[in-house]
Amino acid sequence: MPDQRPDQRFADGPQFPADFTWGVATASYQIEGAVAEDGRGPSIWDTFAHTPGKVRNGDTGDVACDHYHRYPEDVRLMADLGVSAYRFSIAWPRIQPTGRGPANPAGLAFYDRLVDELLGAGIAPVTTLYHWDLPQALEDDGGWLNRDTAYRFAEYAGMVGTALSDRVRMWITLNEPFVSAAIGYGLGEHAPGRRLLAGAFPATHHLLLGHGLAVPALRATGDVSVGITENMAPVHPATDDPADADAARRMDGLHNRVYGDPVLLGRYPDDLAWIYAGTDLSAIRDGDLETIAAPLDFIGINYYAPNMVRAGGADSPLGVETVPWPDAPRTAFDWPVVPDGFHELMLQLRDRYGAALPPIYITENGAAYQDTLGPDGGVSDVDRIGYLDGHLRALRRAIADGVDVRGYFCWSLLDNFEWAEGYSKRFGLVYVDYPTQRRIPKQSYGWYRQLIADQARAVSTQDT
Ligand code: FCB
Repeated sequence: MPDQRPDQRFADGPQFPADFTWGVATASYQIEGAVAEDGRGPSIWDTFAHTPGKVRNGDTGDVACDHYHRYPEDVRLMADLGVSAYRFSIAWPRIQPTGRGPANPAGLAFYDRLVDELLGAGIAPVTTLYHWDLPQALEDDGGWLNRDTAYRFAEYAGMVGTALSDRVRMWITLNEPFVSAAIGYGLGEHAPGRRLLAGAFPATHHLLLGHGLAVPALRATGDVSVGITENMAPVHPATDDPADADAARRMDGLHNRVYGDPVLLGRYPDDLAWIYAGTDLSAIRDGDLETIAAPLDFIGINYYAPNMVRAGGADSPLGVETVPWPDAPRTAFDWPVVPDGFHELMLQLRDRYGAALPPIYITENGAAYQDTLGPDGGVSDVDRIGYLDGHLRALRRAIADGVDVRGYFCWSLLDNFEWAEGYSKRFGLVYVDYPTQRRIPKQSYGWYRQLIADQARAVSTQDT
């Protein structure tokens, strides 16, 4: 962790590009609450969170940050922070309570109000269509294992686009299809809790297909800029043993290439059959890859930490085992803090995809720490400031090295429902006191606000 005095400013060294987008990100199920209001149907996360033993402390998103009712206050917090963009997601079951059929006007109306509030505050809305809250009714028919879900997703994308593309320019189809497929259907640690291991491949393919079908459906609704958000991480082998090198290649395949290559290159990696070790890959049909490779205006990248792996025993899924990253400080999630991994990932993307790589937006980056309210009523989260500072310096180096990065969205505006970890992990720039729903900006909020202001000042000085 770099020495980080709380008052230290991010002003030295080269600045970010003049038109760089500074933002924050959230997701519907993690903040909205109001799960039974205005006709919203249940999602797989409602079902999962209400299943005993699935989420830490039995937490659910029933109330979360009550953002559904408190969004004007949350937009004010963003305006005071000075961000120019806000990435949020739409809850599919608010729009189509069963994942099919006509749009629910009351569900759309919420996002209408939110978008207008944002625009009124001078903040550009950036919309993610799917951040993991699949309508439960679709899961009952097989969820993402069912090819039909991809078509349902495209239909839903068109509906939301029709309602909002007059005011929302930037659209993200899926958030982190790797996590949806691998953690939700492969390992069962996220909703819908299926443990199919490599047998989750059809979910991977149908998510990518849904993305590819949604791109033209969105474009048909207006002058929009469309992308996908992928979480990616450099993968290092634990030793120079060839078996560990193979494990790293497989993990890089499972995590990065299987999601990046089809979308950007229109093909699965050549070693797909090896990566999935004999799994049935017949979900792939003729023509699917052309659909999946629909041209994009940008790619969203979420980065938190790199990965180190070694060859695993017979009982480890696909023979790959993650090992702790050596010599790195750790967040409350036990994730290693490795800003260099961020720089490495950016260069890896540039080198791997070359001219096929569209402009990058960092759609998530941030860290969980054990934040507590101090005696003065504030939250002194200097570790988070150190994390963000280190990662933004790494990103700035990548930009200086020629990687086309257009924006950065900090995860997250608010502490929120952190999936299987419930409310135990706090990622916010703003502390949420859940019993009272009071929002308390942390020290990192002030730090990020200063950074944004300093960048704007640097730009206006350049201009004069
Ligand atoms: C990402 C998710 C986001 C949040 C962060 C910590 O994988 O997209 O919703 O949970 O991790």
